[in-house]
Amino acid sequence: MRIIVVDNYEEMSKKAALMVASQVTLKPDSVLGLATGDTPLGMYEELVKLYNKQEVDFKEVRTFNLDEYYGLDPENPQSYYSYMTRNLFNKVDISKNNINMPDGMAKDVNASCVLYESKIKTLGGIDMQVLGIGGNGHIGFNEPNVNFEAQTHLVNLDEQTIEANSRFFKSIEEVPVKAISMGIKTIMNSKKIILLANGLNKAEVIEKAVNGKINPSIPASILQLHNDVTIIIDKEAASLL
Ligand code: F6R
Repeated sequence: MRIIVVDNYEEMSKKAALMVASQVTLKPDSVLGLATGDTPLGMYEELVKLYNKQEVDFKEVRTFNLDEYYGLDPENPQSYYSYMTRNLFNKVDISKNNINMPDGMAKDVNASCVLYESKIKTLGGIDMQVLGIGGNGHIGFNEPNVNFEAQTHLVNLDEQTIEANSRFFKSIEEVPVKAISMGIKTIMNSKKIILLANGLNKAEVIEKAVNGKINPSIPASILQLHNDVTIIIDKEAASLL
């Protein structure tokens, strides 16, 4: 694991955007794995800036998002599809045909998960996966006591996750309790991984994920076994390392 500690959120976002842009420069038809949540918002902003300065383009890029709420229409403003559209897809030249999200409205969930995995494989696998980390150690929506062998699947969200995500909804009752998420195996099959974290509230889990024993109660700890992980964190998130 490479750990890059930066001063603040802005620097974390810029470094991450530069890494993604370099990936796309080296391989214009890169397959990118993307995350949502608060953490990567600044990175998407920086990527849009680089695109506007014509320093990178997304014409040939293919994307797969980590997760989507189960039962939310993609057009729902709280869906991760809407988040991605607002923060990246509508602001760069990515082709709609190259965007892939888990299907939160799938009637046959298993079949749609199998299809998601096979699409990733057909395109040669994920070249670079961007991750955030939950306060409970989740990556994607692979919650504590995870099965490290799982691929894309339907998950029950942890209470802590539902509570954390309720900030985006009018009330906690509106937060979906299930999601479709890439599994740990899907994530671990990515060629490169960058994990971003900022703020004191992530310090404890970063310490456990990086220095702790690899164990299913901290899903992100499995990343210790991946051979190309870069963790970009601000001083606060790094404060217990
Ligand atoms: C988002 C995702 C989650 C988040 C994590 C951190 O697609 O898969 O694992 O990365 O919950 O969320 P924030 O960045 O809001 O703290």
